[in-house]
Amino acid sequence: MCGIVGYVGPHAALPVLLSGLQRLEYRGYDSAGVALRLPDGLHVRKVAGRVAALIEAVGGDGASAVAATMTIGIGHTRWATHGRPTDLNAHPHTDEAAGFALVHNGIIENHAALREELRGRGHQFASETDTEVIVHLLEEAYTGDLAEAARAVARRLHGSFALAIMARELPDVLVGVRNQTPLIVGLGESEGYLASDIAAVLPYTREVLVLEDGDVAEVRAGSAVVTDFAGRVRERPAVHVQWDAALAERGGYAHFMAKEIHEQPQALRETLRGRIEVIEPGRGALAHLPELEDGGPGTLGLTLPASAGAMAAPAGGQLGGMDALAPGFGLPAVATALPGKVWLVACGTAYYACLVGRRLIEQWAGIPCEADIASEFRYRAPLVRPGDWAVAVSQSGETADTLAALREARRLGALPLVISNVVGASIPRDAAATIHTWAGPEIAVCSTKAYTTQLAVLTVLAGWLAQRRLANGTVGAGGETAPAVADVALAAVGDVLEQALDLPRWAEQALALEGAMRGWAAQIAASEHCFFIGRGLDWAVAQEGALKLKEISYVHAEAYAAGELKHGTLALVTEGVPVIALFTQPELAEKTASNAAEVRARGGRVLGLATPELAEAVGGACDEILTLPPVPAALAPAITVIPLQLLAYQTAVARGNDVDKPRNLAKSVTVE
Ligand code: M6R
Repeated sequence: MCGIVGYVGPHAALPVLLSGLQRLEYRGYDSAGVALRLPDGLHVRKVAGRVAALIEAVGGDGASAVAATMTIGIGHTRWATHGRPTDLNAHPHTDEAAGFALVHNGIIENHAALREELRGRGHQFASETDTEVIVHLLEEAYTGDLAEAARAVARRLHGSFALAIMARELPDVLVGVRNQTPLIVGLGESEGYLASDIAAVLPYTREVLVLEDGDVAEVRAGSAVVTDFAGRVRERPAVHVQWDAALAERGGYAHFMAKEIHEQPQALRETLRGRIEVIEPGRGALAHLPELEDGGPGTLGLTLPASAGAMAAPAGGQLGGMDALAPGFGLPAVATALPGKVWLVACGTAYYACLVGRRLIEQWAGIPCEADIASEFRYRAPLVRPGDWAVAVSQSGETADTLAALREARRLGALPLVISNVVGASIPRDAAATIHTWAGPEIAVCSTKAYTTQLAVLTVLAGWLAQRRLANGTVGAGGETAPAVADVALAAVGDVLEQALDLPRWAEQALALEGAMRGWAAQIAASEHCFFIGRGLDWAVAQEGALKLKEISYVHAEAYAAGELKHGTLALVTEGVPVIALFTQPELAEKTASNAAEVRARGGRVLGLATPELAEAVGGACDEILTLPPVPAALAPAITVIPLQLLAYQTAVARGNDVDKPRNLAKSVTVE
């Protein structure tokens, strides 16, 4: 997400910044900007749009006579999180007196509280970003030592942040800060660089210091001093980088898809951040969706009732009774209450994520939910009623069928909501509120981290609906009062939400199956067909696994509910046909194992993936069995899919296909 570059040295900074930003543009490209220092002050230029628009705005590549005098600067290419992609929201940001400029990658979780605090001390804000609080804090903290001020500010920030900072009165120092978002220092003979990616500095130097979480780097021409947030010196040895420039853009991976698969632990972490609150470890957690709650940007006015049982409830009103909807949406009046029914509409991978979301919403919240393929939805006369919610799920936020389905649901009286990965995309403009996934830009056509982060948001949404419904003392589609059942169900939902915070860790463990998937891929690459089977949530993931495989490897792949095989598809299973069987649902695993045994009896080759508790019981039904991380059943899809993504990737590589740009497909499908 977003790209950072900074330069200090004897040469003109602007050409270095602009060429660095061009190399980083794949990380985000909705706006870009630079800040440079002249003796008369800091000069900032920033524009909505691509780096090309910035180059035009600064009058070329920066090789002018004036530009030659500016030998220190920072630049940024943005992928919007807080605030739409506009000139004002673009980075760098400065304080009111333009004494400091900074660029930021990441999300500041406590920005709202800090903004309030700073406003109380008279600060004026120029943008809607979370980032801007940092520069105002910096101005207050500065007493002549920029690194010291940065450390003081870093200690006040919650969330993820990589920062590059400069000050008007300091012609020879840049400061970099890293916390949970990458940042490196590049060192030339008499130059210093800061960058979010090695790619940005590779044409200039191959000597880099890789900063770690909690590092503050004071960078001068040819040297850097690294400390922790308390000011203690940390040794960061210089590393000599051998990558070529193209490889560096992909973070060392051969393809964007591989990079994006490996980014999933971080993408999950960012997406869950601030949305699950553990009240007391081991006693469950609360789901938060500020986008839907009182005071949130797209507020629907639904807060957890004070009667939330053992769980602490955040301050706020009761269900219903709100008039805080953003004006101008023309939304149905029933938007103030929980939905009578939820309609999830999406295409492709996003639709498969909805299949998981549907189950969780129905099982946890007891609210009827349907998942619809968007291109079918509006032609089937869906029985949408006023008071229902329609949730469009779309990575790009641009898919034409999904937009049309949301509009149709809205016409029929549903409250339109969207889960999207791209701030400022088209579909959110038609919705009352947007819940963002924070996966970062997804470049490969084959969707990976978008799916897992959609699952994370749908899990939080299901928990959020369940906690608001059950805490009210009612359960079941009829809303009958059953406090005892509600308490048990509330506790169970709270437990799973708490466990969801471990998803990034389990995702890391699942990535370790890469070597084993290479072995499976060698078998599948030589095959004409491949089947995926599972029951319940495993069937939902099987469908996503089959889509991944056919999309990039071109092996014909289909997913079946395991119990359906014997109703026809078993006829296609002949000697050696690979069948991937998924076992993560304890109450269904034995039944799937029986279906797997039926496949083997016909010569099919069963490759099983099972959670540790099930692996032994189902292993006998498989030719090979691999163990997944110990993820609970309700959260398993986001983890089970990772080896399936790796399998598709390795099979495509083994077949020599263009992995990132599969034939006949496009990343964003804006036609019906
Ligand atoms: O941007 P969207 O999530 O709306 O895109 C929906 C589908 O086009 C997309 O998921 C597609 O199926 C992917 N290429 C699958 O990997």
